[in-house]
Amino acid sequence: MDYQALLEQIAADIAPLVGSGTPAEYIPALAAVEPAQFGMAVADLEGNVFGVGDWQVPFSAQSITKVFALALALAEGGDGLWERVGREPSGNPFNSLVQLEYENGIPRNPFINAGALVVTDRLQTLTGDASSELLDFLRAESGNPGLAFDAEVAASEQEHGDRNAAVAHFMASYGNIDNPVPALLDHYFWQCSIEMSCADLARAGLFLARHGLRADGSRLLTRSEAKQINAVMLTCGTYDAAGEFAYRVGLPGKSGVGGGIVAVVPGQCVLAVWSPGLDPHGNSVAGVAALDRFTTLTGLSVF
Ligand code: DON
Repeated sequence: MDYQALLEQIAADIAPLVGSGTPAEYIPALAAVEPAQFGMAVADLEGNVFGVGDWQVPFSAQSITKVFALALALAEGGDGLWERVGREPSGNPFNSLVQLEYENGIPRNPFINAGALVVTDRLQTLTGDASSELLDFLRAESGNPGLAFDAEVAASEQEHGDRNAAVAHFMASYGNIDNPVPALLDHYFWQCSIEMSCADLARAGLFLARHGLRADGSRLLTRSEAKQINAVMLTCGTYDAAGEFAYRVGLPGKSGVGGGIVAVVPGQCVLAVWSPGLDPHGNSVAGVAALDRFTTLTGLSVF
């Protein structure tokens, strides 16, 4: 497949949408990003990476890091994690608290904020330094040793972090958080602040297309665990728009409020797209459209 020509066609097709939507407003450091940017990259299993537009520009990975944290927590700690977090779509916004009380402090899935806080808590217990462990892993898988936290974004999240603090304390009241909440929040905010480009993200996600194998050929996850993560991405990776995303794109995908989305074609390639304008669910408007275009033009999908 001529991925380069395909990406150029997609960029031309979705150009009218670039700049529509609204960059995340609740984190001032993200609200300041120029909205009229768009990049897309494809990494294939042979190690080639193709890109178009702003595909090498670093942006805030935000909730996309939740996929990588989940993979590490499962790889290092096994599936006991699933006693503390579910695998069902929440049908609610990513930062919602509403289900936690009547579901006894067990979040619906690892990709809403509540679930991601449980995953980071688990990783912290397992490694003693969850955010550094995650950054090291992303550097290794992306092949980019220059990946870094963005201190301004982390501080901005911390300052506007009352909702996440409430979620974490509430779960702690049910005994579902093991580490002190302030330390957990620090790791979570650092995790969200990691800056990556589409090229970095597409490469870093390849272990999910390789059925669990890392860039160096070692095994991170069993084939079955890689399938399980892809399945949870499909059903829960784009929050209360996961049904619409599956309908339009037909691939496991994970979005972040920085405007990035990673999508996996198992056995074939990983796509990463970025455009900061978000829809009301927190998913990139041009990003979803570009992934929709990709699967429509190629027929590549899990369906
Ligand atoms: O927890 C938060 O509010 C953010 N740091 C991450 C949210 C995020 O990316 C959810 N996204 N779509």
